[in-house]
Amino acid sequence: MNEAIRVLKERRSVRQYEAKPVPKEILEDIIDCARLAASANNTQPWLFVVVTNEEGKSAIARLATYGKFIASAGACVAVFCEKDSKYKVEDGAAATQNILLAAKAHGLGSCWVAGHGKDYAEDVRKLLNVPEKYELISLVAIGYTNQTPNPPKKPLSQVLKWEKYE
Ligand SMILES: Cc1cc2nc3c(=O)[nH]c(=O)nc-3n(C[C@H](O)[C@H](O)[C@H](O)COP(=O)(O)O)c2cc1C
Repeated sequence: MNEAIRVLKERRSVRQYEAKPVPKEILEDIIDCARLAASANNTQPWLFVVVTNEEGKSAIARLATYGKFIASAGACVAVFCEKDSKYKVEDGAAATQNILLAAKAHGLGSCWVAGHGKDYAEDVRKLLNVPEKYELISLVAIGYTNQTPNPPKKPLSQVLKWEKYE
């Protein structure tokens, strides 16, 4: 199978990580992939804050209701977009998906943790000293793992229609 297709098909959310740091160059390459994502009108309204220090990760984990595992990940990427940007959610989501896929391509596990619209979004922004003009879109936990989760997926036949619904 083509390597890119394999990465897309085999990516799954991982919520348990090994206590092994992720090299800075790899994290930088992952963010390089994120900043090349599609965005409406090529606005690129994003800002990525990569948190690797234990205190920072634990503080984010305490805030994120369903992201307690962030504390044990090698890194957490907080994805922000300019709040006045029209397609901030779509643009931030596209960048977030690139992060998940780039992490997988580097042999890392990751998990998207909700950010946009959550009651802790502003607290995360303040914790990371991010200016008010930005809004949190997502948090992504990244780390080495030996887990291979396999949640059920709808079959292609259930979600694909050719030409018209029927
Ligand atoms: C917008 C969004 C928000 C999510 N928020 C969380 C979250 O807060 N905590 C979590 O553990 N997983 C979260 N996930 C991951 C989903 O639970 C996961 O993608 C889904 O169960 C499918 O599993 P898979 O990623 O392994 O294919 C989120 C995913 C998306 C797209």
